[in-house]
Amino acid sequence: MSQPLSSCAQSDILEATADHIRKLLTGDSSGHDFHHIERVWKTAVGIGKGEGADLFVVELAALLHDIADWKFHGGDEEAGPRAARDWMMGLGVPKETIDQVCDIIATLSFKGAGVATPMKTLEGMCVQDADRLDAIGAVGIGRAFAYGGHKGREMYDPAVPPTPHDSFGSYKKNTGPTINHFYEKLLLLKDRMNTNVGRQLASERHRFMEQFLEQFFAEWKGQR
Ligand code: ADP
Ligand code: NI
Repeated sequence: MSQPLSSCAQSDILEATADHIRKLLTGDSSGHDFHHIERVWKTAVGIGKGEGADLFVVELAALLHDIADWKFHGGDEEAGPRAARDWMMGLGVPKETIDQVCDIIATLSFKGAGVATPMKTLEGMCVQDADRLDAIGAVGIGRAFAYGGHKGREMYDPAVPPTPHDSFGSYKKNTGPTINHFYEKLLLLKDRMNTNVGRQLASERHRFMEQFLEQFFAEWKGQR
């Protein structure tokens, strides 16, 4: 076991990490800008407090979870955990903590092989809930259309219906209109939450997305 860090050392590490990530991600237009990280960080701490999780691990994992999103690294799922490990080693974070944080990041970024990966630790569950919450509700709607625009996708095309899939784990990246992403992923997230607070927040955000979609289609048809 390495020496536990003082709370002062922990807050220095968190501050340096937030600065580092802010510099790396500022200006990203694909949905992974620093504001996404800040929201996930805040929400994960809120959930983690209620759950009695180790907040140092929760905060580090939230801050570092998109450090090298695999989609932007040629499908290399190890890029995120590797970059996070290098960064934390440079700051003298204890090895046990580094291992816990990297395991969370690896599980969060793993989206392939047709299997939904369950989070092993309470800290991971808090961060995963916070990350999923940021994909739904008003902010989630905004992020979906921002991502679609970034990829040059249409908002909606009545001739391209959403592709249903057997299970969340078999989710394949939607390359169609952005509205389809709601049916293929975003509306499924409320039933994938790990914690009670996460579930509560998700059900409110879910209802808001349903209202949005109802209004969207009514306007599309000229009914409202
Ligand atoms: P996360 O930050 O949770 O890992 P992703 O990397 O999967 O999320 O996606 C980033 C954001 O882009 C999310 O808000 C997600 O809903 C959105 N997004 C991902 N794929 C699509 C898509 N095909 N169409 C619209 N939005 C998408
Ligand atoms: Ni994220």
